[in-house]
Amino acid sequence: MAKENIFPFEVYIAFFLSAFICFIYHKFSTYKQHLDVKGEIVAYIKEIRTHPVKSCKPAQLQKIEVTNLGFKHDRQFVLLNQYGTFLTSRKYPKFVLIEQEILGNEISLRAEGMPDLRLPLKMTKKDGDHVADFAIWTIKGQGVHVSQEADDWFAQVLNLEGCKLYCFPTDGPPRRTRDKGQYEVFENYDNTPNTMMYTDGSPVLILSQPSLVDLNDKYTEEDLSMDRFRPNIVLEGCKPYEEDTWGRIQIGDDVIMEGVYPSERCVAINVVPDKGAMSDKSILKYLNENRSGPAFTPHAHKLKGGLFGFNYGVRKTGFIKIGDPVYKLKELQTRSKFMKND
Ligand SMILES: *[C@@H]1O[C@H](CO)[C@@H](O)[C@H](O)[C@H]1NC(C)=O
Repeated sequence: MAKENIFPFEVYIAFFLSAFICFIYHKFSTYKQHLDVKGEIVAYIKEIRTHPVKSCKPAQLQKIEVTNLGFKHDRQFVLLNQYGTFLTSRKYPKFVLIEQEILGNEISLRAEGMPDLRLPLKMTKKDGDHVADFAIWTIKGQGVHVSQEADDWFAQVLNLEGCKLYCFPTDGPPRRTRDKGQYEVFENYDNTPNTMMYTDGSPVLILSQPSLVDLNDKYTEEDLSMDRFRPNIVLEGCKPYEEDTWGRIQIGDDVIMEGVYPSERCVAINVVPDKGAMSDKSILKYLNENRSGPAFTPHAHKLKGGLFGFNYGVRKTGFIKIGDPVYKLKELQTRSKFMKND
């Protein structure tokens, strides 16, 4: 029997015509978005940093993909103890001595006196022997167990029995920031939840080199390197702390980010990066005393700790690279009802 067409010819015409219209519309709107950029250039990207295993030494890259979960591979792995609690350099400062390098579809970890450990950069829930549910700073997440080999490697490096390494599964739910009450203080807050893997509370941390230079001028106890503060993006060409003042920025041709709230620092910044040990000085104490409260940011009365760096959420994904300009699209504005000085 000869094959017959199921649909009349007109249906095919209509289908191709609508596909063509969609294509033209898409091209036009992308072009229009490009024209919409009118922001002034306020800074340039100096460094791009990602930390595939939470708490390990930052990996610096020339360019990176910015996804809906923040930087590609940033905080994609986390180590849990035998009770299922996440572990960081706050308690195990030796973490920061572990070097990590992205090699194609794998990540290579290096620690003194140990063979390198290779980990796959893509895992679904069925790629491991079990899936765990756990919270990182009260924000729930899931992880797929990587391997016994990885557990043993970390157990030896950190001298820590019973730890287990988990990977954020590509088919798992994202962790969502608890935005309400954090950055609803800002005028530009648009109710968009930010999503991430195992970062503490926000997808992207931005810090400028001029801010660090200013801090080092004032805090003379120790020489502080950028590694202390674990930003994803280091900027240059702006004034100190200018990164705290942008409501919305575009980076390069594509990526758009929204300023969400200042980074409230914790004891992890007291770890000396090339020693893998707590300092006998306390930069945290300095920041708590000298960079907190309403004198610094009008909204800071909601945040207790010392502020250094600013958290951003991703509003448009794409690629960014070193040297890319940062355009200010909007100032950060605090809602008037949060402006009280107490
Ligand atoms: C805060 O800054 C002042 C002035 O620079 C300094 O004297 C003081 O020691 C700082 N606080 C801490 C805890 O370092």
